[in-house]
This record gives sequence, structure tokens and C-alpha cells, in this order.
Amino acid sequence: MSDKSILLIIGGGIAAYKSLELTRELGRSGVRTRCILTNGGKEFVTPLTVSALTGEKVFSELFDLDDEADMGHIQLSRSTDLVVVCPATADLMAKATAGLANDLASTTLLATDKPVLMVPAMNVRMWEHPATQRNIRQLRLDGVEVMEPDVGDMACGEFGPGRLPEVSRIKDEILDHLARPEDGPLSGKTAIVTAGPTREALDPVRYISNHSSGKQGYAIATALARLGADVTLVSGPTAIPQPSGMNFVQIETAVEMLDAVKKGLPSDIFVSVAAVADWRPAEPSDIKIKAKTTKDGLGALSLVENPDILKTISHLKGKRPKLVVGFAAETNDVENHAQGKLERKGCDWIVANDVSGDVMGGSENEIALVKRDGIERLPRMDKAAVAQNLAKRIAESFES
Ligand code: CTP
Repeated sequence: MSDKSILLIIGGGIAAYKSLELTRELGRSGVRTRCILTNGGKEFVTPLTVSALTGEKVFSELFDLDDEADMGHIQLSRSTDLVVVCPATADLMAKATAGLANDLASTTLLATDKPVLMVPAMNVRMWEHPATQRNIRQLRLDGVEVMEPDVGDMACGEFGPGRLPEVSRIKDEILDHLARPEDGPLSGKTAIVTAGPTREALDPVRYISNHSSGKQGYAIATALARLGADVTLVSGPTAIPQPSGMNFVQIETAVEMLDAVKKGLPSDIFVSVAAVADWRPAEPSDIKIKAKTTKDGLGALSLVENPDILKTISHLKGKRPKLVVGFAAETNDVENHAQGKLERKGCDWIVANDVSGDVMGGSENEIALVKRDGIERLPRMDKAAVAQNLAKRIAESFES
């Protein structure tokens, strides 16, 4: 990352102190960080601290003759790979939405021709206010990437969404941006990835689902995007924040998932990581089924089969993606079952994983890549590393 630089706008919020840690983390990764400190930001961190940590001059005033002589604000907004606003206050986001340019930070955001990443942090009520949510929607429509804040205790004593995400998550997001190659090996290719569980309603409050966390699918979508692919992630309900840099489609049921995947076609690559519920209640009740009904003998739950998304996409005529990859979550006899699945589903590769331990929800995975011409076994590794290995092999398959 030694040739990469970011312009960090530090807004006036209590989370401003965490942006200091962020500059250090980025420095360790070799990223050059130049900072703009807003007047509000100066109430929380000093220009001297920021300058000492970044080893760079700190910019603050729009009409400062010294600053302008040193580097004009237009040049400042463009001589960077990425503009990051952290913390992005409600005020800064409102200004950027409206296109105001009455201080250095807002002028820079209006003048830049570089991608912009905003990392909001504010009180939960301010975050949930319709004005803030409206501004965020507009910013996203304008092409600005806005990270989802964390949920938790706030400095002001309240609880809810609005906390600055962990510094490590912000750093990873920034590095992802800087690493995203316009001319990566999968540039020009499209990929659809399904992830997470599906939820099949029994009644308005109950459903059938499974333990899938979505981590592996999200990691694969991110790894493919990093190699330049134009990715659509179709996800069931998970606790993972919406990843940036890709199209994201939120669904609940298997039927909705199949529909979303079909809408995403044509695609060069399809990776089916989702733990799709094989069955759904035949007749979900419109009203809550009463407990008493159950005691009186609800009888057997009547289920109907869900569509097999992987199989359907593998057998599509005309629109079948060039490479279709399925997953086989097994608790025993993993590779044998995976080989059977390869044939049954009609896909090109099966990633076999042993889910007998703490894989579902855990951060590691041990996989074997099952193809028609052989099996490649990979050692146990982090789910992100599994994803990178798989994405690399997918990219290689398009080279040959
Ligand atoms: N899959 C799918 N649609 C379904 C069921 C599974 O697309 N209705 C996909 C999964 O995303 C995965 C692969 O099929 O890529 C295998 O899923 P798995 O749950 O292991 O297999 P099943 O087909 O459900 O078979 P079994 O439960 O008998 O192991």
C-alpha cells in the first residue's frame, strides 16, 4: 500500500479520537494519510496530535493563505486515492447531501473526483432521525459509500445504532477500497453469490431456519469484488453489516432468493454459499398459531419442498453462468457426499466443508475443492483466507 494515500476528514464528534488510532493503523499498512480537521473536530482532537501521528501538515481553513499556497483545496481533494470522512457527523452528511461548500471539508467533498467513504458516528436518535436517514439514502444514490455504524452503548449513555464501527473494520474497508483493482483478473466479469440462511415462515412470528452466519458467503463476495468482479450478493438475514463495493439484495425465503438470483442473470460466475432451507411450511398461517392449538394437537407440520437454487441455475438453458460453484455442508463422509452432490446438482465445482465442529458461525473453515477431475484439499484457515483461495482459483479458471 506504500503508493496509496487517503484524505481523512475528521468531523466534530466524540468518536474523533478513534480517527487518531485509524491514522496509526493505516500508517502501519503503509498508507499515507493527510487530514482535514473541521472546526468541530478541533474541539475533540488537536491539529498538533493529528500532525504528529500522520507526519503530515493538517488542513483546516478554506481561506487560509498559507494552506492555499501550500496546496490549493481543489488539488487537496484530488491528489488522493480515496476521501474518508471519519467520524461523519450528521452535520457533515447533511452538508454533503445538500452540496454546501462553506468550509474546507464540505468544499473538498464537493470538489473531489475521487471515491468517498463516510463512516458515521452519532447519537442513536440523531442516527434514526428521518432527516439523517434521508441524507444517507441520497448520499448512496450520489455514489458515496456510507458504512453502517455499530450498535451498542454510546458515550452519551444511550444504546442503539450510531457507534463508530471498530477501527479495524474501518481500516479493512479502506484497504479494500485501495486494493480494489480496476484491472484485476476478474475485471469485466460478473458474479452472483448467495449467502446466509433462508427463513421460512410458519406464522407471522415463527419460522424455520438454520445456523448459517453468512460469514463465508460474504467473504467470498468480497474476495471476488477485490479481484475486480462486479458482484451481486443475495443474502438471507444475517448479523453482518452490508458489505460495500457490490450490489446487495436482501431476501428472506428460498423462493425470494431464487427470484433475486434469476434477476441478476446473465452472470459469468455463480457461487451458491447460502444454507437454503430445503423445506417450507405448506400453508403458513396469516395469524399467530396459538399455543393452545399446539397442546390440542397441531399435528404434523406439513411441508413442501423449496426450489433447489443451485440445481436450477446449473441446468438453465442459455443463461447458465460459465462457472457454477456449490457448497456441500456435511457432518460426515464429506468428500463422498460432495462428489455425489456435484453430479446431482450439475454444477462445475463443489466446495466441501465439514460442519461437524464450530464451523457454522465460527471464523474458520476447512474445505476441499471437488471438481470432476479431482479433489484439492486445503488446510483449516480463516474464512477470509478460504474466500481468497477460492476467488483466486475462480480467476485462474477464466485465464485458461
Ligand atoms: N442449495 C440450493 N438450494 C437449496 C438447497 C441447497 O441452492 N434448496 C445449494 C446450497 O447453496 C449449496 C448446495 O446446494 O451450494 C448444497 O447444499 P446442502 O445443504 O449441503 O445440500 P442439500 O441439497 O440440502 O442436500 P442434503 O441436505 O441432503 O445434504
